[in-house]
Amino acid sequence: MNSGNEPTNSAPATAGPDTTNSAVAPEATAATLITNIAGLVTNDPPLGDGSPLGLIRDAAVVIEGDRVVWIGESSKAPATDNRVDVGGRAVIPGFVDSHSHLVFAGDRTAEFNARMSGRPYEAGGIRTTVAATRAATDAELEANLTRYLREALRQGTTTFETKSGYGLTVEDEARALRVAARHTDEVTYLGAHVVPAEHADDPAAYVALVTGEMLDACAPHARWIDVFCEEGAFDGDQARAILTAGKARGLHPRVHANQLSYGPGVRLAVELDAASADHCTHLTDEDVDALAHSATVATLLPGAEFSTRARWPDARRLLDAGATVALSTDCNPGSSFTSSMPFCVALAVRDMGMTPDEAVWSATAGGAAALRRTDVGRLTPGARADLVVLDAPSHVHLAYRPGVPLVTRVWRAGVPVVG
Ligand code: NIG
Ligand code: FE
Repeated sequence: MNSGNEPTNSAPATAGPDTTNSAVAPEATAATLITNIAGLVTNDPPLGDGSPLGLIRDAAVVIEGDRVVWIGESSKAPATDNRVDVGGRAVIPGFVDSHSHLVFAGDRTAEFNARMSGRPYEAGGIRTTVAATRAATDAELEANLTRYLREALRQGTTTFETKSGYGLTVEDEARALRVAARHTDEVTYLGAHVVPAEHADDPAAYVALVTGEMLDACAPHARWIDVFCEEGAFDGDQARAILTAGKARGLHPRVHANQLSYGPGVRLAVELDAASADHCTHLTDEDVDALAHSATVATLLPGAEFSTRARWPDARRLLDAGATVALSTDCNPGSSFTSSMPFCVALAVRDMGMTPDEAVWSATAGGAAALRRTDVGRLTPGARADLVVLDAPSHVHLAYRPGVPLVTRVWRAGVPVVG
């Protein structure tokens, strides 16, 4: 347990100004004091109660510009020009959705309907969205992306990653990344989502395109490279070739791994020091062990299992082994058409063996770890001022009150954007 006023040693350093000692209160400036917080999740254990969530009761936060500058008990808060009383509600860091596919057109209602009548989910459904996406204008793609981003923001997502993967030509992949890069720094090149119909007879030629001309066109617009390593998509050797080529161009790997079946994806992710292995639904003991002894985060996407009626990933097994677990939406029109991080938290608690505390950590700090970010996913001096106010006295209500729109106010980088 801790007074809440000591600098942190165990947590990674935050980006931003050197204001890591919360005992040094800032002078009264144009800062804003957010106070009367019943329970504040900081994700900084020593700053709070010593638990992974670093909880502080009866707390206050001071934000200035785009940063958090002070955190502590409300009775010790410094004077500021502006003051916001949240009325005894809970505050958490903005959600970090580290896995989405938001540059697409059309939807797949008919496919979902058929699945709910018993048809299995198959990787090949991606091609339906590829056809609709290729036919869309840039403006249509951007309008669609903006709509889902607003939807996510209203539900508390303040950082998100998104991918290409529904273009699958040099120009269509590059334009997807250009559109995405106008809205987030966390952009992922997923030319290797599936082999498009026109290359079905010669997958090797498509891999050559993905690692050659398409990579040349896409690398300048992306931070990450991803592969759908799965039966019906890309096998382990193809995935290794694609990720290795991306690494050589300065893109860092993340992998769609072990979603629909057991396979080499997770071990490949660990071998290549991917930031994240995503899905992790079908894991051997060796896969779990590899994740637990690596810096690769296991990102679980319960919206996908919900929407494909698949078996749940076993978060408990990963956590008990010592792996770092993130939760994300996987928002896409095929396997998981939800932008709601609160929904994913509730599913993870109900069906994947997570406690509410673990699920909230995974949806915030876990997502930040999966993006190798230290400036988001936590509320600590120096972090970006991304705060979510819940219409509830505790973060536990995210799981306790599933489906209820609890997010009432959101600040993103210090700017009030919801409420
Ligand atoms: O993460 N698994 C691969 N990609 C997506 C699904 C894409 C789609 O069905 O359109 C996923 O689930
Ligand atoms: Fe995905």
